[in-house]
Amino acid sequence: MDRMPLARSEQLYNRAKKFMPGGVNSPVRYYDPYPFFAVSSHGSKIVTADHKTYIDYCMGYGALLLGHAYPSVLDAAKAQMDKGTLYCVPTELEIRLAETISKVVPCAEMVRTVNTGSEATMNAIRLARAFTKKKGVIKFDGGYHGAHDYVLVKAGSGAASLPASEGVLEEASAQTSVVPYNDSAALERAIEKNRDTACVIIEPVLANIGLVLPDKNYLSEIRKITEQKDVVLIFDEVVTGFRLAIGGAGEFFGIRPDLATFAKALGNGFPVAAIAGRKEIMQQFSPAGNVYQASTFAGNPVSVSAAIATLGTMMEARQAIYPQLARTCDSIVEGIKEELEDIGGLDCTINSIGSMYQVFFTADKVRDEATARKADAIKFRRLFDELLERDVFIPPSQFETCFVSYAHDEEDIDKTVEAYGQAFRKIKE
Ligand SMILES: Cc1ncc(COP(=O)(O)O)c(C=O)c1O
Repeated sequence: MDRMPLARSEQLYNRAKKFMPGGVNSPVRYYDPYPFFAVSSHGSKIVTADHKTYIDYCMGYGALLLGHAYPSVLDAAKAQMDKGTLYCVPTELEIRLAETISKVVPCAEMVRTVNTGSEATMNAIRLARAFTKKKGVIKFDGGYHGAHDYVLVKAGSGAASLPASEGVLEEASAQTSVVPYNDSAALERAIEKNRDTACVIIEPVLANIGLVLPDKNYLSEIRKITEQKDVVLIFDEVVTGFRLAIGGAGEFFGIRPDLATFAKALGNGFPVAAIAGRKEIMQQFSPAGNVYQASTFAGNPVSVSAAIATLGTMMEARQAIYPQLARTCDSIVEGIKEELEDIGGLDCTINSIGSMYQVFFTADKVRDEATARKADAIKFRRLFDELLERDVFIPPSQFETCFVSYAHDEEDIDKTVEAYGQAFRKIKE
């Protein structure tokens, strides 16, 4: 289709690519022929340099659970900024954050605060290796845990469109084996095969290869297998943390991993992340132990204040927030299904859980990376373009997930469902 020209965004993109590789600071932000540029955001909306306002379902790739520019979070960060932005000495704020995470996340006996999800998974794996004195890592096909060498193997998200990243140290990635998701027998075989396995790292719900849900009992089987084989189980809750439930997937599915990593929704738009888990493993972090992890900005008072305010809001209003998120998401998914039924002849599967959903152009069940890849990605790309024409912004790739926030309202739902209906009709033409 011919996209409506976005004059200002095109100009900005042409300027950006002269000094920034590919014109963006993270590859998933690029799409053909150029992405729209943002100037502001509020609630469920993102405003572009071309004066367009879109209903946002990218929502910072899941970071903005409460919505853009949530007042109590902004107030907390602004109030802290007046008192200084970086001390690099401890603060009581950091204790409050660790105590709060410990209160809401069942496995979080201790917490280390970092800045990004990638830092969190990298250091969780390092902890697991030190604890077990073993080297191997097992991850799942299509699982994404950030852009570092330990995990950039058959990864999802933007990496799903590359054969393999160049520059990754083979010696590091060779220690990482990959098994299919939703196949506990395959995991058991992989651990049997490599007795040097230190940890299994899993997104409890895959959210970076589209959205893929765990089969019934799958996560408890994984917990059992890892426990029996003395392998550290890491739940990468960068997406699911504080989203599926305030206690994340651990609470939602009633499973206690040894370690868990958090980012995204923890700061509702501020860069803050955490590694949490069993005390005896966490105590290895230097200076208590000998696993070195350090960062100038870790625990900085602005991000930490934002995170305390985010968790405070979630704790206070959890009885309202989580049911509302689920209702909004269900209404969108039900609405999309009704549109598809009305139109007929377009085979789609929709996976959804809590406040996340994704549409796949395939009649088959999508339950792992292989089945996600069978979906028609060209039709998906058409869907993205057609929705954007109708002021609805979803992540531009099939291998991402759509995120609903606490700010999305009835009007958003109606407009979104209508936009999907019109988009599907165009795709069918
Ligand atoms: C499940 C998961 N883990 C880790 C990461 C990496 O987080 P960050 O981009 O903050 O480094 C992501 C990012 O999308 C993610 O979805």
